[in-house]
Amino acid sequence: MPKTKEAEAGPAAPGDAGDLILPVDQQAASLKSKDLLGIEYLDADEIQLILDTAHHFKEISQRPIKKVPTLRGKSVINLFFEPSTRTRTSFEIAAKRLSADTQTISASTSSMVKGETLIDTARNIEAMYPDLLIIRHAFPGAAHMLARTCSAAVINAGDGAHEHPTQALLDALTIRDHKGSIEGLRVVICGDIAHSRVARSNIHCLRKLGATVVVAAPPTLMPCDVEALGVEAFDRLEPALEGADVVMTLRIQLERGGKLSFPSTREYFNLFGLSRDKLALAKDDVIVMHPGPMNRGVEIASDVADGPASVILEQVSNGLAVRMAVLYLLAGVGAAKKNVETAA
Ligand code: CP
Repeated sequence: MPKTKEAEAGPAAPGDAGDLILPVDQQAASLKSKDLLGIEYLDADEIQLILDTAHHFKEISQRPIKKVPTLRGKSVINLFFEPSTRTRTSFEIAAKRLSADTQTISASTSSMVKGETLIDTARNIEAMYPDLLIIRHAFPGAAHMLARTCSAAVINAGDGAHEHPTQALLDALTIRDHKGSIEGLRVVICGDIAHSRVARSNIHCLRKLGATVVVAAPPTLMPCDVEALGVEAFDRLEPALEGADVVMTLRIQLERGGKLSFPSTREYFNLFGLSRDKLALAKDDVIVMHPGPMNRGVEIASDVADGPASVILEQVSNGLAVRMAVLYLLAGVGAAKKNVETAA
């Protein structure tokens, strides 16, 4: 008799995948590093493992009781030193759905306002024996510094204009859901490429998974060495959009210097805003993505953001599944087993 998914997954037990319905070969899986600092440091197999694990985790959020015992007894601390709606909330919910204990610290309510450095904050947090630290910070490399200082697993939730790995992973999951595979797709990323950690992480992720990545931005919002990342670059949106399978629009990162890069938002929208007319240049089954927060009428027209091609809210739902997967792979049974083997 064929095994049911539940039978393949095995019985629930403290610390394992519980009733996640994960296939047996994923129950003890883990990533190579103790941390998730950027997509740059993952290989394609690790990215696929995260996406496959997230795919199985989606189902938990459809249950009447949205909780499994997988990370019972684990402590997760969110350190958010920059504003966030989606990333912070979804990491908090993800940890709770896996039964971990969570605590969130923001810059305004931490002793950093009294002059404590990030490294001292990290050392004090580490002294409370957390298992996972999630950090968002305005400085590129902040997550790396935390990872070097702390024995807890560190997840980069966005470090300046450097990387935002879980955003790229949730974007990849959303694309895979719609297109079946990422290999061979033409993905256009348009907007403020120069200041965007989302663009950087997506370029690494999509290229590792075999997509052709095209970027489009005014010269003032394009990094001068962008081709070195393996992308095709355009200074106009229309030619970039021709034949696109996926279009990802990005907001202008005003907090990172983007506001000095164009004469007016009206002119920016006319040239680089994703309107229905411009989107018509892409393939008929194109999907439209945006990591949020969105500025309607600047980088995207409202009727495109809310239109039939938009998968923007699916990205948010997938963010929850991806963050559950990352927490599980860094602190679940596979990570514990790997740490024991490494220590032996
Ligand atoms: N996409 C994203 O990182 O959104 P938040 O800033 O709201 O977390």
